[in-house]
Amino acid sequence: AATTMSANATFSEPWSGTLTHLEWPSTPRLALITLINFPVLAILLNVLWQLLPRPKSQPPLVWHWIPFLGSAATYGRDPIGFFRQCREKYGNCFTFILLGKRVTVTLGTRGNDYVLGGKHTQLAAEDVYSPLTTPVFGKDVVYDCPNEKLMEQKRFVKVSLTIDKFRAYVGMIEDEIKGYLETDPKFRVYQMDDINEWGAFPVLEVFSEMTILTASRTLQGREIRERLTKDYAQVYHDLDHGFTPLHWMIPNLPLPSYRKRDAAQAKMSAFYQSILRHRREHPEEHQDDDVMASLMKQRYRDGTPLRDHEIAHILIALLMAGQHTSSSSLAWTMLHIADRQDIQEALYEEQVKHFGTPDGGLRDITYDELRDLKVLDAVVRETLRLHPPIHSIMRMAHEDIPVPATLAAPSEDVTYVVPKGDIVMASPIVSQLDPTVWENAETWEPLRWYDDKGVAAQAHKQYNEGEKIDFGFGLVSKGTVSPYLPFGAGRHRCIGEQFAYLQISTAICALIRRLELKLEGNFPKSDYESMMVQPLPCKILYRRRKFD
Ligand code: HEM
Repeated sequence: AATTMSANATFSEPWSGTLTHLEWPSTPRLALITLINFPVLAILLNVLWQLLPRPKSQPPLVWHWIPFLGSAATYGRDPIGFFRQCREKYGNCFTFILLGKRVTVTLGTRGNDYVLGGKHTQLAAEDVYSPLTTPVFGKDVVYDCPNEKLMEQKRFVKVSLTIDKFRAYVGMIEDEIKGYLETDPKFRVYQMDDINEWGAFPVLEVFSEMTILTASRTLQGREIRERLTKDYAQVYHDLDHGFTPLHWMIPNLPLPSYRKRDAAQAKMSAFYQSILRHRREHPEEHQDDDVMASLMKQRYRDGTPLRDHEIAHILIALLMAGQHTSSSSLAWTMLHIADRQDIQEALYEEQVKHFGTPDGGLRDITYDELRDLKVLDAVVRETLRLHPPIHSIMRMAHEDIPVPATLAAPSEDVTYVVPKGDIVMASPIVSQLDPTVWENAETWEPLRWYDDKGVAAQAHKQYNEGEKIDFGFGLVSKGTVSPYLPFGAGRHRCIGEQFAYLQISTAICALIRRLELKLEGNFPKSDYESMMVQPLPCKILYRRRKFD
């Protein structure tokens, strides 16, 4: 017993004397002490590492206390504020640490040009985006294939996004919005037919639902639209919940949202492929003129047709690429319209002027007339200036790439070099809100687009006119140096631009004809924690218009 007692004492008091006392227990204690002190040690080492002199050619590193996490919290909470603060401190080019990755940001119009106009062999999008998109879209499309193949896939889709198709889409979109107002429980007050009563609807939910209904009715095809509201609503929901910044940063975790994402992708892919087989086996039943029908006829440059799973995955990619971008843009637009009664009135007057009938009604909207509506056009353009849904555009540097001195340089005789392996990031929104370019840059002011010679018109011209390049999906304007780039630029420029304009504009017309709107409470702030910049949850008040 005495021996046991002394052994116990030795364990509990290792510091009390002899060498034998210290030997035995030191390993677990040391491990514990090291474990407790590890974060402190890591922080200290990280601070020391940042204080060491660095090669002049490396862009400045944003100061951060916690290794690995780096500036993730500040960037994630408010990327625009973070970029502005860093720009003030370090200039147009700097590097920050984001969850263990080095990210070099290049700001301003030259910074946008550096990233968006970069060569694909030097700056690749797929390395950065694929961990997010491949589990959601599926294999062999978009960023899960060589860039040349993506360019061909973009060309295939563009075939279905022609003016002829758009002419037919306008009526379908208006029809969907009208049907939604007349049947969805969130518009109960509208359905009561009482023009004096005000109701309220939740902004995010309503515009997200309107977007998916209108996109599936037009682009996705009859079968998808019919089953979307029934059996596929949950599948879409599960897929969508796997399309978040967390799923991007950590692509595989043993969590339910990841398992549901993978199951939903498999189910959605199988559903599209079953439609394809049915269409092929029963051509007499299918006279459809949608994206699927068009993809079935396309051939890659080497003569091979698209495989069924590729068609399915391109359609899923279009659904996801267009959903959050268009729905957040529509939500911001309607919030501003609800906030600015003068613009709301001007929009309604424009409808009456162009579509008014002798009996005081409004006739159907047409695609060709839609393009003549100046107030509407200005409203959409201004919203995309202030709230482009994508705040950070990223590529991976495949080699060391020098930064032009006109963008940023440490001194006259030295240039910065972005090292191979860095993520390179541009943020066109910083240029779209730059007070040195735009008057009252932070104010939503559609009137700025009326002036044909003003800054806005010039920026729009620079974006859409001038030198044109074909990256494999038809001619697109280079446009990378414009301070207005809501749809990106270069080889990765959006192919959904005209469709999104049409979808958003038609939805605005359909809503403004039928509803008067007011904000409930203050104008909402931006939520940067979701995939796209969307408003924080809020409501809009509505009342049925008299002459609807
Ligand atoms: C690419 C914005 C709607 C399909 C892009 C990019 C931006 C963008 C900024 C470039 C991304 C990059 O360079 O990394 C928007 C906005 C939209 C919208 C603001 C709505 C207001 C749509 C719609 C579709 C679509 C409706 C589909 C019908 C695509 C595709 C790409 C793309 C396929 C090309 C990706 C690539 O080449 O890497 N979009 N988009 N977008 N968008 Fe859109």
